[in-house]
Amino acid sequence: MKQFISVKDVTDIDALVKQALLYKANPFIDKALGANKRIGLLFLNPSLRTRLSTQVAAQHLGMEPIVYNVDKEGWSLEFNEGAIMNGTTVEHIKDAAPILGHYFDILCIRTFPSLQNKEQDYSEKIIHQFIKYAGIPIVSLESATLHPLQSLTDIITIQESMALNENLKNKQPKIVLTWAPHIKSIPQCVSNSFSEWINAWGAANFVITHPKGYELDTQYTNGATITHNQDEALKDADFVYVKNWSSYNEYGKVLSTDANWMLTNEKLATTNNAKVMHCLPVRRNVELSDEILDGPNSLVTKEASNRVWAAQAVLAKILGSLS
Ligand code: CP
Repeated sequence: MKQFISVKDVTDIDALVKQALLYKANPFIDKALGANKRIGLLFLNPSLRTRLSTQVAAQHLGMEPIVYNVDKEGWSLEFNEGAIMNGTTVEHIKDAAPILGHYFDILCIRTFPSLQNKEQDYSEKIIHQFIKYAGIPIVSLESATLHPLQSLTDIITIQESMALNENLKNKQPKIVLTWAPHIKSIPQCVSNSFSEWINAWGAANFVITHPKGYELDTQYTNGATITHNQDEALKDADFVYVKNWSSYNEYGKVLSTDANWMLTNEKLATTNNAKVMHCLPVRRNVELSDEILDGPNSLVTKEASNRVWAAQAVLAKILGSLS
């Protein structure tokens, strides 16, 4: 694997999940794989889980991780070709990225979308410029439109949960992605990515439910059943993935904050005792209720802890491809 920015970089999802679960059982079996290799983790935006789980994963593989909080500690980067840099940006990506390519063996980057300029966000301009100019493998720690390490984690968590549940063994699970309310404009990354990965995995009955106006980009959702009726969607669900996102069509807008879309125990009662997932961070009692998050069906802590094994499986694949 030469880069990891979407599911398209993965040839076999199930094999990657298997490798991740192998690392979960034996964290240090490939400790020698990353010896004398350095991994740079660049954050243009905040993070708890991604930042720490990727560092832990790198250390399990014997690598030295170095974190660089570009947003707080770095020079302000310019990404526009031919820019006359007489404004706020100090260093062009064309100058910075090749240097990072010399310091590190693998470079991981977190960026967020502007949620102002759809064309620019969906062109993934920032991560593509790192790929173009760094000259080393690039791993997305969440980009403008996708969050592949989160989605790989989500499939690991679903498979792990199915293996532990007699009722779900050898069954095609019903997985529902439901929109939830939020007070802020939130990226579509996690929902795009979850849809892309579940569709590519192809082992589930996949349903997406959201209010009118929250349709996601069809390049990710094609293959899923889409409904505006949350009650209908939740019926007999085995897994419910809760997430807010802002509008894709009316780009970045918050069109609804309808609290009726928040998942409660009453709604959960219509499912097949579904396990509930969320990538975190979550705004309690806005996006997801206390009773669900603190209840027995919540997988959120397990899901977040599995971020280590997803990152470790991906980094090992990339290390294996380094000459
Ligand atoms: N889920 C996730 O990516 O969490 P962080 O933003 O804290 O990394």
